[in-house]
Formats: sequence, C-alpha cells, structure tokens
Amino acid sequence: MDKLFHVIEAQQFDRPLLSELFAVTKEMEEVVSRYGSNILSRRLMASLFYEPSTRTRLSFESAMMRLGGQVVTTESAREFSSAAKGETLEDTIRIAEGYSDVIVIRHYESGSARRAAEVASVPIINAGDGPGQHPTQALLDVYTIQKEIGRLDNFKIAMVGDLANGRTVRSLAYLLSKYDGVKIFFVAPRVVRMKDDIKAHLDEHGIEWEEADDLIAVARDVDVVYQTRIQRERFGDRIEDYEQARGKYVIDQTVMEALLESSVVLHPLPRVDEIVPEVDGDPRSAYFRQAHNGLYIRMALLQMVLES
Ligand code: CP
Repeated sequence: MDKLFHVIEAQQFDRPLLSELFAVTKEMEEVVSRYGSNILSRRLMASLFYEPSTRTRLSFESAMMRLGGQVVTTESAREFSSAAKGETLEDTIRIAEGYSDVIVIRHYESGSARRAAEVASVPIINAGDGPGQHPTQALLDVYTIQKEIGRLDNFKIAMVGDLANGRTVRSLAYLLSKYDGVKIFFVAPRVVRMKDDIKAHLDEHGIEWEEADDLIAVARDVDVVYQTRIQRERFGDRIEDYEQARGKYVIDQTVMEALLESSVVLHPLPRVDEIVPEVDGDPRSAYFRQAHNGLYIRMALLQMVLES
C-alpha cells in the first residue's frame, strides 16, 4: 500500500486505506485513554487557518500534542499572517515547510490545499478549502457512522441543509461512494440543493440517491440524518436566498419521534438553530461524540503521514 502523504480530497482514499486508517484510529482511542504517546516527539506541525475554526484546529493541535509532537500555529491568517501584506499562498507554504514537518491548512478558496501541495515538500493536510472539500471531517464522519450503526455497507443516510455550499457533505458523498448498498436522500432548500458534479459522481459509482422535501418522511426511513448549517458566510449579498433557506429544516422533537430507535443524528458542527438543544440529551443525538472522534482520526492521520 502506498504511504499516505498529502491529504487533499476524499476521493484519494480507497477502502483498504480507509480500513487501515480506522484501525489506527481505534488504537488512538486507547492511546488517549492511556494519556498519550511520544511517537511524534521531535516532530512539528504548522497549522495555518485563514478561516475560523474550533473543532478542526483544536483537534489537530491536540492530536499532535497527544502524540508528543509540537505545534506552531496562526489563526485568522488572512489578518495575522503575511497574507495581509500580499504574500501568496505558495510563498507562505515554501516558508512554513522550512519550519515544520507537516502543514494543516484551512483556506477560503476551493483548490487552495491542492495549490499548497503542488509546492510543498512536507505533507499538506486540507482542513477545509472554501466550499470545496473537508476530507478529514468526512473521514471522522464515516468512522462515526461505523461506530454508531455498526456498518458502512447497506445503510440509508439523509443529508440535510446547505448541500450546495457544504464542503463536508461533498467530501462525505465521495467517501460513501466507496461502499456498497448506500442510499442517500438529499433534503435541502431549493436555493442550496446538492450540486450536479456530486450527483454525477454517485451515478458513476452506482450509488442510489434521491432528492426529497419531507424531512419527517425521510427520517422514518434512514439510519443516519446528517444535518448541516445554512452557511451565511457563503451567500455574500444574497440575503433573500439565505433567509429563504434558514429555518426550513430543523431537527426537533418531532423529527426525533419519527426517527428509528437504532438511527442517529450527526452534524459536523458548529450549529446555529438547525438542531434544537432540547434533543441533545437523546442518545441518538451523536454529534458531540462525532466531534470527539475527530481527535482520534487526526491523531491517526498525523501518525500515518509522518511515521508509517
Ligand atoms: N466541523 C468543523 O469543521 O468545525 P470547525 O469549523 O469548528 O473546525
């Protein structure tokens, strides 16, 4: 099996690599419960975040430190790195690679992680590139699905919310196309429906999908509801479209009553108002467990790109 180096897009993972990653991720759960490891001591991770983040940045930094490594970081990099003086992304990467062994980057432009990888001699990990992809989120999503419902073949999932701008659902759709017997329902307001390139990819890979309007009816039929936030920051001055989309699909007690006892609700987070806090205590609300799995997946990725 080829060594994992850059992590740029979900399509680069095949089933054997996913199985290997999930096995290492499971080991990382044990490592954390034993208070960490020193396998990445003397290794240094640079995290460059040009867009806001809580989970991805903190979990990557925590992952590196849990494995004995160290971190240099810039948040709000648009403002606080030399990007503010006009430095190109390529030049920033050429500098950061001299200071670190791996670079984790979140950027506001689709394709930016690939641009970074083209000039980098150290591994680049895409932590979200605008509306493009968020592959490490999709990896933790798939790991969570396996943990929560016990399988990755033969299940039904509803992707709900901002499917046009959602990089997490794009990456997740690419990963799910690796599995058998998966059916995807797209439940989105008209202005943010799933894009045609993803639908074409699913068709090419024999994955059944359907667009639906009735969230309650879909909730009765699926194993996973994957809710997403309507992303105000992607609408620019299209305020009317944003207002039309927000609040249309909300996970509340009525949706939870429709959901099977064995099904789960996921969300990449952050949420705004698309899941009411009153359902957080329901054991089928798995989104905080999902976010915690991000630590283990990112520990496994760092170990695999730096050590294997
Ligand atoms: N899910 C996710 O990417 O969250 P953050 O934006 O907080 O990193």
